[in-house]
Amino acid sequence: MGRPLYLDYHATTPVDPRVLERMLPYFVERFGNPSSRNHAFGWEAAEAVEQARAQVARLIGAHHREVIFTSGATESNNLAIKGVARSLASQGRHLVTVVTEHPSVLDSCRALEHEGWRVTWLGVRGDGLVDLDVFEASLASDTVLVSVMAANNEIGVLQPLARVVELAHARGVLVHTDASQAVGKVPFDVHDLGVDLASFTAHKMYGPKGVGALFVTRKPRAVEVSPILHGGGQERGMRPGTLSVPGIVGLGVGAEIAGQVLAEEAARLGRLRDRLLDGLQSSLAGVTVNGSMAHRLPQNLNVSFADIEGEALGPALGDLAVSSGSACATGHFTPSHVLTAIGLDADLARSSLRFGVGRWTTDEDIDEAVARVTDVIRGLRRLRAEVL
Ligand SMILES: Cc1ncc(COP(=O)(O)O)c(C=O)c1O
Repeated sequence: MGRPLYLDYHATTPVDPRVLERMLPYFVERFGNPSSRNHAFGWEAAEAVEQARAQVARLIGAHHREVIFTSGATESNNLAIKGVARSLASQGRHLVTVVTEHPSVLDSCRALEHEGWRVTWLGVRGDGLVDLDVFEASLASDTVLVSVMAANNEIGVLQPLARVVELAHARGVLVHTDASQAVGKVPFDVHDLGVDLASFTAHKMYGPKGVGALFVTRKPRAVEVSPILHGGGQERGMRPGTLSVPGIVGLGVGAEIAGQVLAEEAARLGRLRDRLLDGLQSSLAGVTVNGSMAHRLPQNLNVSFADIEGEALGPALGDLAVSSGSACATGHFTPSHVLTAIGLDADLARSSLRFGVGRWTTDEDIDEAVARVTDVIRGLRRLRAEVL
């Protein structure tokens, strides 16, 4: 055990102190409800919300009226997929998505499948990317929506979204993307890409948890999203409920800072990520990278270690905070659906680690992580050799 070392920035990020500072007045002093139209408390809160909307819109190249605030990317994904499917049900009941998506996309599609929609679940190539020919062939005359993530949360691979959009739009099909792991980390411009809907969340870009947004395009024509919650008419009727003003302010400031530092930060973090990979591969044999290195978030590394018992890996890492490639559900270690989809066998999937570097990661952190992981892997290999 050493000092706690956080290299799990894909799971969540700490709130940037500059973000917190701008949020604080909206808890106690400026606590108004932005829907209160009759007094200054409400006006002040509404002004803060609209400023945040403009900050978020600027980061993704959208118009401010195209940004709908939600409770996070899970809700944005649910709203986009169920909301569009329901509003277009009379035009067709077929959706296309990818097996490596986040559970909030997969389960939203599954819920629609239970209600009678047809869903095509696309596999991916060994590098984690969608095969565009297979994608094109999946589009049918009754397809109304495709949902393909921008960046994968486990292996960090960047899907060829611009091409996905071109192929889908040529058939008149709308495109939603879960951009939770891309926005704020790599350039992401909704109009350059041409996506119709995009989900993202504050807590992956140094903002608070429990707040996110859905981009819903108004051009060339406004996309209709049926609400999944019903109530007051907030967010143009698409997402009723009193807005979390401090959270939204935090999302806005997080987006503003991300826009300012993105290029420099991505370059620095890419260098740290490469240092981590070099360190691991030069001190250990049998370290393989999962997913494309060429089409990948600079902040992400996902590697498998040969010849270890994967179940023992997570607990052995102690105070090194990273994610492992299996989730323990009811006593069984289920290998990650993403690693399985790129062709890893259960053993290699279980013996994988996801590292995410972020704003406060230093060279020293990387060197220390390499040393700790090397020790742990060597120990597990020795143990295994003794048992065999
Ligand atoms: C790709 C992706 N989509 C969706 C989510 C869910 O986001 P939230 O925690 O804001 O609901 C996450 C975060 O875990 C994610 O990584």
